[in-house]
Amino acid sequence: MQEFPITRAPASKPKPDPKTLVFGKTFTDHMFLMNYETGKGWHDGRIVPYGPIPMEPCAMVLHYAQEVFEGLKAYRSPDGGVQLFRPMENALRLKSSCERLCIPAIDPQTVVDAITQLVRLEADWVPSEPGTSLYIRPFVFATDPSLGVHASHTYLFAIICSPVGAYYAEGINPVRIYVEDEDVRAVKGGTGFTKCGGNYAASIRASERAEEQGYAQVLWLDGVHRKYIEEVGSMNVMFQVDGTVITPTLTGSVLPGITRKSCLELLKSWGVPCEERLITAQELFDAAEAGKLEEAWGTGTAAVISPIGEMGWEGRHVVVNGGEIGALTHKLYDTITGIQWGTIPDPYGWTV
Ligand code: COI
Repeated sequence: MQEFPITRAPASKPKPDPKTLVFGKTFTDHMFLMNYETGKGWHDGRIVPYGPIPMEPCAMVLHYAQEVFEGLKAYRSPDGGVQLFRPMENALRLKSSCERLCIPAIDPQTVVDAITQLVRLEADWVPSEPGTSLYIRPFVFATDPSLGVHASHTYLFAIICSPVGAYYAEGINPVRIYVEDEDVRAVKGGTGFTKCGGNYAASIRASERAEEQGYAQVLWLDGVHRKYIEEVGSMNVMFQVDGTVITPTLTGSVLPGITRKSCLELLKSWGVPCEERLITAQELFDAAEAGKLEEAWGTGTAAVISPIGEMGWEGRHVVVNGGEIGALTHKLYDTITGIQWGTIPDPYGWTV
């Protein structure tokens, strides 16, 4: 494993109360930084005290959003150790996001080594209360001091860590969602399959509108036909219809989620029929009205599994599984979180 030089923080900050952790509000003592410069490549990887990053007001990222990020977690296992869940998958997705945004890719093993070394240094910050973890946020952005629209020649790769509780303060309660038919978050040929800040910026208005109307999130439709379901909020989405789990296929505008992939692998190993295919809102609501929509849930790193209890679309309103968490949703949640926190065996080798 590559080891990077460490400049230690003069003192450790007080740790937050693990019972009242809010997602992404407190950060640990240190962060990882690495620079890129044309001709020099990625260099000067280092761990330094967490703190502001000086930047020119004309830095390219602030104007043209040449930026990508990742999200993963470190978990406290019952033996007191700390483990990561499939970090190489995040490093590979970061590479693919970089390629799309014209950012020089970082060797995935270097990314995993940097995450591993930082988490080891910050091990005391990995909380042990049930449902808590250390959220790790790697991100890469363009720093050229220039307003010309072209690929930057300089970049910064940073990793910061935040102790977090459950993503939803209410726990894994079924949420109400509505089908967004005005805004779209991404289109094929665009950046939907990457984790770039721009995708999330494009999604905020719809989320705000959903919240104003008493919904937790929106169900995104594709940007061309406006009929195929793509994601829910900032998560991938799955439906169990007549015994078969259906999830939108990775068309280019859907994020290849690591929790999505893990769910599909688990479902297949349990013998549950799964289909990755296009599914229209029409098909979904027809199935629901015919009593065939058994369960629906979102999948993502932050919330893991988020059951969907009610859905609204064009004046139609359906309740999924009586608004209760379904058995399969529960089994997926228990299995994935059990493997992540090391409370059940990991026959898949997902934790390191
Ligand atoms: C996730 O589900 O992990 C996400 O992508 C949400 C994150 C951007 C906070």
